Amino acid sequence: MNFLITTLLIISFLLTIVSFQNFNLTTENGEELFEGHCRECHSDDFRKRKSAPALGNIHIYRVRDWLIDFIYNSQKMIKSGDNLANCVYISNGKKTMPAFYMLSRKEIGAILNYIERESKIQQIGRDEINFPCN
Ligand code: HEC
Repeated sequence: MNFLITTLLIISFLLTIVSFQNFNLTTENGEELFEGHCRECHSDDFRKRKSAPALGNIHIYRVRDWLIDFIYNSQKMIKSGDNLANCVYISNGKKTMPAFYMLSRKEIGAILNYIERESKIQQIGRDEINFPCN
């Protein structure tokens, strides 16, 4: 019986740590996630266009919930008929951005915090990057 209680306590303790970590995602986590998942196509100086558009100051032009949905699964949004998603897709030559099912909304939020912080640190001008479809 004692063994069972101890085991349950250890499990709930570990679960608390795991959920606490997900809750406390930092901008540094966002940076790591960006480097691992996004930099292949989006530059991390946030000004230059690589195979995908530069993302500096994107928070000024798009609503956060829209960004999270788009990053999670852009093709689903495009197919559902979202006007902005379709406009972004067509303006970028109909290239397909992969879906990121492995990322939680919080993790995508941390990536967006990182992009916003870098845009400020690198002093990217308000209208320096031309986002289509505004
Ligand atoms: C394989 C290349 C590729 C990867 C990897 C990639 N993207 Fe994209 N991304 C694109 C392309 C291409 C577009 C242009 C829109 C389209 O064609 O659907 C785009 C568009 C976007 C947009 C919308 C830009 C706008 O004008 O609204 C955001 C935001 C974005 N990506 C964020 C990310 C984030 C964050 C990651 C990493 C989690 C990521 N992308 C990973 C290719 C990529």
